[in-house]
Amino acid sequence: MFALHIGTFLIFAGFALLLVASISAPTVSKIDFLHIPLSNGSSVMFGSLGYCILNSGGGHSCTPTGVGYKIGDEINALGFDAFNSAQDTTLHGLTQAFILHQIGTGVAGIALLLALCSHRLGYLVASAVAFLAFLIATAVMIIDFVTFGSVKHHVDHNGGSSKFGNAIWMVLAAAIVLFFASIATCFACITGRRHQRKRTASTY
Ligand SMILES: *[C@@H]1O[C@H](CO)[C@@H](O)[C@H](O)[C@H]1NC(C)=O
Repeated sequence: MFALHIGTFLIFAGFALLLVASISAPTVSKIDFLHIPLSNGSSVMFGSLGYCILNSGGGHSCTPTGVGYKIGDEINALGFDAFNSAQDTTLHGLTQAFILHQIGTGVAGIALLLALCSHRLGYLVASAVAFLAFLIATAVMIIDFVTFGSVKHHVDHNGGSSKFGNAIWMVLAAAIVLFFASIATCFACITGRRHQRKRTASTY
């Protein structure tokens, strides 16, 4: 019974972490994967579906929300050296894969509903869906670190100083949490069945 609540709670935690990372800039300008403080006091905040420029006075301007954005063009516009065109194309392709944050959130949400609504064998399904959410979260976490890691490296070697933001750590945490969520939920299914069998046996 205890294991079963832990599994559901962990799925909820993984879902919530992915959800917050999904509504990063430009939806919520202060949730970012990477930010670059500029010499004029503003900061550029890169999110999953766009980016924002946050001014020190509190005002901000953001790109429209969309799948994939030209991160290389923006880095160049900020005055840093341009990426070569192959890097530009690769980075743009990787930003298109950021949609996996929203897909992963959806899959984790389905796992949560399944875990909340089912008992016994249903947990096996919830566990499998939570495992799928874990795989998606892991894939997108790797994509995040490759994309923002190379942008960070580039900016930091061109006189800038960029920092990873809260959202990238949330995706990392979500991947870890969803892995244990899947195991705990599966465990709940197995122990639930054993209790059930014991109960059935004792009625005879
Ligand atoms: C600082 O520079 C950036 C990039 O050039 C610009 O978008 C932003 O508006 C500037 N901030 C202020 C406060 O002028």
